[in-house]
Amino acid sequence: MGVILEVKNLTKKFGGLTAVNDFSFEIKRGEFIGLIGPNGAGKTTVFNLISGFEKPSSGRIRFNGIDITGMKPYKIVNLGIARTFQLVRSFKYLSLLDNITVSCLSKRGKEVSKKTGTDNYASSILASVGLIDKARIPPIILPHGDLRKLQIGKAVGTNPELLLLDEPFSGLSFEEQLGITDLIKKLHADGVTIFITGHVLRELMTLVPRVIAMHQGKFIADGPPVQVANNKIVLEAYLGRGVKIA
Ligand SMILES: Nc1ncnc2c1ncn2[C@@H]1O[C@H](COP(=O)(O)OP(=O)(O)O)[C@@H](O)[C@H]1O
Ligand SMILES: [Mg+2]
Repeated sequence: MGVILEVKNLTKKFGGLTAVNDFSFEIKRGEFIGLIGPNGAGKTTVFNLISGFEKPSSGRIRFNGIDITGMKPYKIVNLGIARTFQLVRSFKYLSLLDNITVSCLSKRGKEVSKKTGTDNYASSILASVGLIDKARIPPIILPHGDLRKLQIGKAVGTNPELLLLDEPFSGLSFEEQLGITDLIKKLHADGVTIFITGHVLRELMTLVPRVIAMHQGKFIADGPPVQVANNKIVLEAYLGRGVKIA
């Protein structure tokens, strides 16, 4: 398996606060990997830097060998990285089908929709996220779990090689979490490399074979979830903030 993402000495400062501090790691093509750490650890900032929503203060990010450091988000999407947001975003007054269609019209989305037809492509994605019955309604009347599915569908419409999922389980009921888990597993089985954040260790423990842990912007551990969860610094980071780990 070749390296799909290489992050080297990544640092992001917001004034006097170093949100990401000399952070380095690699992800191999086809991996299913988690990024964990308590609230405020810097997880979302790492995703913002990879997806171009923030520019790093220093360090490099390479995707498929291409230096994407500081590139605009749309260029990064066109190279094959899609992301979802911790807070759900969608086009409120478009139907669910049209929400997905917008992504299917992106550069990489078009590579598929040219062959199958945009409507067919968008419908197949909507079906794969379990929302085809709601194709004609706008997202404003959807429950939170469905909005999360829509958000993942919108990311999938850009035909990504690497999908960044920022806290896809937060605020969901247990049943909704199971639905999203199945969906993410299916995407990974289809060949998409998945990088997923969580601040509750338990949510990622049984899902991914590898997690990277961070705390106060710094790398602290990398390995199988059980091993990382028992790492002394990881335990202190979590227990110090009173977050449950099991
Ligand atoms: N745009 C910003 N301006 C100032 N501080 C920020 C900004 N974004 C994040 N931070 C700070 O950076 C730190 C890491 O935040 P974040 O990446 O959101 O952590 P996490 O996703 O792990 O909860 C926090 O202290 C947060 O307040
Ligand atoms: Mg976050």
